[in-house]
Amino acid sequence: MTKKTRATEHTEFSEAQIAVHWKEEERFRPPKKFVEQANAKDRDIRERFGPKKFPNCFREYADMLTWFEPYRTILDTSKPPFWKWFVGGKINASYNCVDRHLAQYRNKAALIFVPEPEDEPTVALTYQELYNRVNEMAALLRDFCGLKAGDRVTFHLPMTLELPITMLACARLGVIHSQVFGGFSGQACGTRIQDSGSHILISMDAYWRAGKLGDHKANADIAVQTAQEMGQQVDKVLIWQRYPGKYSSPTPMVKGRDFFVNEVLKNYHGKRVDPLPMDSEAPLFLMYTSGSTGKPKGCQHRTGGYLAYVAGTSKYIQDIHPTDTYWCMADIGWITGHSYIVYGPLAVAATSVVYEGVPTHPDAGRPWRIAERLGVNIFHTAPTSIRMLRKQGPEEPKKYNYHFKHMTTVGEPIEPEAWRWYYHEVGKGEAVIVDTWWQTENGGFLCSTVPAIDPMKPGSAGPGVPGIYPIIYDENGKEVRAGSGQAGNICIRNPWPGIMQTIWGDPERFVDQYYARYCKNRHSKDWRDWPYLAGDGAMQAADGYFRILGRIDDVINVAGHRLGTKEIESACLTVPEVAEAAAVPVADELKGRVPEIYIALKPGYQASQEIVNRVIKANEDLIGKIARPKSVYIVPDMPKTRSGKIMRRILASISNRKDVGDVTTLANPDVVEQIRVSVQGKEKVASKDALPEDIAKFGEND
Ligand code: WTA
Repeated sequence: MTKKTRATEHTEFSEAQIAVHWKEEERFRPPKKFVEQANAKDRDIRERFGPKKFPNCFREYADMLTWFEPYRTILDTSKPPFWKWFVGGKINASYNCVDRHLAQYRNKAALIFVPEPEDEPTVALTYQELYNRVNEMAALLRDFCGLKAGDRVTFHLPMTLELPITMLACARLGVIHSQVFGGFSGQACGTRIQDSGSHILISMDAYWRAGKLGDHKANADIAVQTAQEMGQQVDKVLIWQRYPGKYSSPTPMVKGRDFFVNEVLKNYHGKRVDPLPMDSEAPLFLMYTSGSTGKPKGCQHRTGGYLAYVAGTSKYIQDIHPTDTYWCMADIGWITGHSYIVYGPLAVAATSVVYEGVPTHPDAGRPWRIAERLGVNIFHTAPTSIRMLRKQGPEEPKKYNYHFKHMTTVGEPIEPEAWRWYYHEVGKGEAVIVDTWWQTENGGFLCSTVPAIDPMKPGSAGPGVPGIYPIIYDENGKEVRAGSGQAGNICIRNPWPGIMQTIWGDPERFVDQYYARYCKNRHSKDWRDWPYLAGDGAMQAADGYFRILGRIDDVINVAGHRLGTKEIESACLTVPEVAEAAAVPVADELKGRVPEIYIALKPGYQASQEIVNRVIKANEDLIGKIARPKSVYIVPDMPKTRSGKIMRRILASISNRKDVGDVTTLANPDVVEQIRVSVQGKEKVASKDALPEDIAKFGEND
């Protein structure tokens, strides 16, 4: 089944050497049984979506949807880089994910909720029942909250059915939802409420995580207060009860402001709300993500193009059929969940599983028990979970009788070793794997193999998916050729329907961040002059497969989630004693990268564990537990250039136990050795190994 290709004589590689002298991995062919049933098994898909067919090829995706009024223009490029897709069309996302499936799939499960407590029964929601609940919620949002098309609503919801129901209720009305990851802090939610201008916050009293029913309502109060301090008034807070009829939080409800959704919903029992025909270009949702400045960016996604793109890629790359039981273990609070738990799978009439808790609760066999019990045959997760499940239960998968035909990895580069465990142990050698590279900004997959057609190569995402033409540029805008062994900045040459419309409220930042770097002519109306800069380093092998090396900007990818170093540093500076802070990425066995923090104190303050604790708490409170640093070091001074810039690159070397190189040109070279000794110990770390590409490049723009 597998075919060996070129292998070098060396077997031991450091991560950076792999990046430079990339050892060719052996290729794996998709299992025959998979190929026979695949949605895309005809090689002519590459032809159908080839450069000559652009942009008309995307008609194929748009035509998977039901339009109230047909579109006239596929791609409008009159105002680069603000592309417009399927212009003139009228469409509703809620209708496409729910109503239109009723005729054929009324009593098929649309969503299956698996609570974290294992003794709590799963809940299967049929398309009919989803339809009822989405309609009732839409009536409540319209009549009780006064929401109308174009308004924004912030959610801070956990992984329960109420989240997709509320999303689809908004989409029915053309209301723009902005879901903030449930694990983010109340403050982080508040700043996003303010940025989006939401007057309504929708949250839940409590949810299960790692065996604990945590108070989540408290975060809603903090979020409202944070938004208020920033000048944004929240009029109503809607609280779903995790157990309807019972309040599971100790935090009091605020009279006149806070309402239990399930109680108010009683007044809307059986109500129907017609899905509003929206312009194809009407925004569907905002999804905030970190960038290289402290302020999170609200990625604004359109209705028609986005839905077409996630439907098309769900069908061809995820290979979802209506008869499949599909489980994506991501959180709906991230883009992966929006596109590949809710909108994509439901647009193609899948049965999509929503799991509340952590994968290893109560033990590392849990995902496989869920898969066995529900008959899951498509499984989708991130390298960080794969590493964790492999570490805690390498033998668990074989104990359970489930059979995946297809598996996905997303969110960060996967080591070939972890990939092989996923393939052999989790997939039992029966499943095809797609390594899907993309971003919050992109709506859907950019690079991946087409599962029945292209061989798999561990550690490589693959070529651009159909209709996506990636290219690697060097610092000077020169193309880095496939097979050259050189890394560079990966860009996408063409627009595609899933790309975000803009950054909410900040179109200039949109242009600067993604297009300014390699734009060939600012006045050009030709899309060919506007390559999209993804912000990742990558290499392309001779066979055209891309290997993604990590971020090139000030973003740390923690367990597949993006954190801005500036966000972390600003959180540190809220501790009054802190004068300067620098956050750097350190390689971590399970999470890929984690932040480590260096702080310098204002004159007159003594270093203490107590200050360290407050720095950690500031990060947890302002961003969330995900931003918890591995260590916090209080240093006498930051290593600085003569012009006074903090050299994060040097700190990153120290944190990663690597040689710092030549520091003699710094303003304060002595401090480097002091910091090194306090972090690494007196003994000089001998390792001359180069750093992993993304860490080595970290701080280059300082
Ligand atoms: C990284 C997640 C390697 C990359 C969908 C990107 C990956 C960032 C992969 C986006 C992959 C995502 N291989 N790296 N298959 N998928 N990344 O916005 O650095 O949360 O820029 O979107 O994750 O993260 P985001």
